[in-house]
Amino acid sequence: MTATGSLLPLISILSDGRFHSGSELGKQLGISRSAIWKTIGKFTDLGLEVHAVRGKGYKLNYPITLLESSAIHSGLSEASKNLIAQLEILDTIDSTNSHAMRLIQEGKLLLQPGQYSIHLAEQQSSGKGRRGRQWVSPFGQNIYLTMVRLIDTGVVATEGISLVVGLAIIRALRELGVPGLGVKWPNDILVGQKKLAGILLEISGDISGICQLTIGAGINVRNQPEAMEQVSQPWTDLYQLTGKGMNRNLLVSRVICHIMSVLEEFECNGLKNFIVEWQDNDVMKDQHVELVTTGSTVPGIARGISETGALLLETSQGIQMVNGGEVSLRKSAINDS
Ligand code: BTN
Repeated sequence: MTATGSLLPLISILSDGRFHSGSELGKQLGISRSAIWKTIGKFTDLGLEVHAVRGKGYKLNYPITLLESSAIHSGLSEASKNLIAQLEILDTIDSTNSHAMRLIQEGKLLLQPGQYSIHLAEQQSSGKGRRGRQWVSPFGQNIYLTMVRLIDTGVVATEGISLVVGLAIIRALRELGVPGLGVKWPNDILVGQKKLAGILLEISGDISGICQLTIGAGINVRNQPEAMEQVSQPWTDLYQLTGKGMNRNLLVSRVICHIMSVLEEFECNGLKNFIVEWQDNDVMKDQHVELVTTGSTVPGIARGISETGALLLETSQGIQMVNGGEVSLRKSAINDS
């Protein structure tokens, strides 16, 4: 059993956000009150905050819905269910993307083209962001989702996929009533200038033939600000945006369905049917921006995307097409002056 695994029964009882006395918890779990107290002491390592009040017991500072595969399945369409070869929920893992890629390497993911294997975790100890950054991933508070899909038409056919995955997440969040969403090239989901979700695509296998596309998505649902202290960029979460808790299982189901649906459309028609939707959601359109690469910063004005999904950056030398990879875009201070 993992370290988190041994905490899970207690987390599960406390997930309702109500007070439970030490003796009640001890009775339910068949352990002593002091063992309960010791176990609760480990919650802070997971980023969970517990209130202990004499005479009342312990409570999490707000309720959490633990991820559950039956609840996720019940929110999926029949078509989506049929495309899932495997869905697993891990208590804790280094990174759901790294985990899925290890399974691929070890020959443990046997997928047909078009099928998905889905990997979720309550916590990531080394969550990966774009450009080698860490994705802070405390327990039970957010979504850490990886979907693997087999592609049999080579890596070129995947150009633009990261943009449509961003749109899929926006569609899912809008359907659930989240306001003010936008996308920043290539695929950051923002509200205002604050990051709500990010996507990390990794590709393995034969770049000209059969390859595996590993799509990782992190969505901030409700974070303890302390757990996010190490995050340098401005961030937000669904709780701040909607003022209420979000059923994470339902959110996962809707995101999975929308990702599957955009990828199906993308496979048939490429990016062309998504360009207008992407531009409509583009928070940087016509803004002064800085394109940051390793070692250089190029100023310009963001002019949307090309038909292949490249960023169109207007610079003093004219419009340049910028392809994805290790680059990122930030708003320039000129806009505010
Ligand atoms: C970004 O920097 O914007 C990309 C963040 C991607 C985070 C997700 S969480 C699930 C999956 N596993 C990882 O290690 N990273 C991605």
